[in-house]
Amino acid sequence: MKKEIKKEYRNDDISVVWQPHLCIHDKSCWKELNGVFKPLKRPWVNMEGGTTEEIIAQVGKCPSGALSYYKLKEEEMENQESYEGNIKVKVIPGGPLMVTGTCEITHADGTVQVKENKTTYCRCGLSANKPFCDGGHKGTGWEG
Ligand code: FES
Repeated sequence: MKKEIKKEYRNDDISVVWQPHLCIHDKSCWKELNGVFKPLKRPWVNMEGGTTEEIIAQVGKCPSGALSYYKLKEEEMENQESYEGNIKVKVIPGGPLMVTGTCEITHADGTVQVKENKTTYCRCGLSANKPFCDGGHKGTGWEG
């Protein structure tokens, strides 16, 4: 079992939260926003390497939830896009709940994470990366 580390990287607007034990090494963060995410540098997150909006958008694409963020100053983010009314939910037989659209997730520890495009959420209870599906339902015979 991987050690559960939680690191944060801040600019004036947000704090990016990095939980390496959740990472599935999708690589999209450093391939798509390499001014900010630099896996060979320490610290590997350079908050000066992109705008807050670019960082939020990229963190929202993290498929595993290893990257998330929360806002430091709510009032400075008031121009942020509203996500309401832009979400479709599909139940995958024997699999996860697929959510298409941009939505904001507030985790139990208060961490806020924005997910964009398609995100799958565990319905079977077997995921090691809840609330997200990690494929743990496959081959179990679970029929939901
Ligand atoms: S639905 Fe996929 S792991 Fe639970």
